[in-house]
Amino acid sequence: MPLDPFDAEALARRLLDGPLPRRWSHVLAVARKARLLGPELGDDAGLLEATAWVHDIGYAPDLAVIGFHPLDGARYLNEEGAPRRVVDLVAFHSSAWVEAQEFGVADELAEFHDERTLTRDLLWYCDMTTGPDGTDFEFEDRMTEVRERYGPDHYVTRALDVGMDERRAAVGRSREWLTSVGLADQV
Ligand SMILES: [Fe+2]
Repeated sequence: MPLDPFDAEALARRLLDGPLPRRWSHVLAVARKARLLGPELGDDAGLLEATAWVHDIGYAPDLAVIGFHPLDGARYLNEEGAPRRVVDLVAFHSSAWVEAQEFGVADELAEFHDERTLTRDLLWYCDMTTGPDGTDFEFEDRMTEVRERYGPDHYVTRALDVGMDERRAAVGRSREWLTSVGLADQV
């Protein structure tokens, strides 16, 4: 299945709009941010936007097999024939590697690859500066929001602390790039 931004949007809409309206609002805002970066990003513009659309489809009730959304989403996309980079970016988005260790599925996530590129950082940035209902957040405020939403004992909260340096580094590199291309005030 070729996954251009339009197809990715349709897929995400089918899976999330309806069963998970709040999550869908979040995805709409993440994809809007990704689209804003496209003109400056060059060859990866379509890839970033497509990935933004589908990054959270693993939350969809139809897809939640393991209950760890980056892995459920990546496996589904892989089965559907999505481009390998989309699959990998979804698998590892927003420090999923650390969360996978806390959740106990690190071996399963290791089926995929963390490409550690600017495109990967920007996906993390768009996601980690967008609240659960689609509102804009400063990165640090978003981390506080996640911590409060999940509570101290949840694996997501435990993973926040372990993975915070990596998250901050990705946000820092993203901000540097956004400033260099004149988009710092827009996303
Ligand atoms: Fe997200």
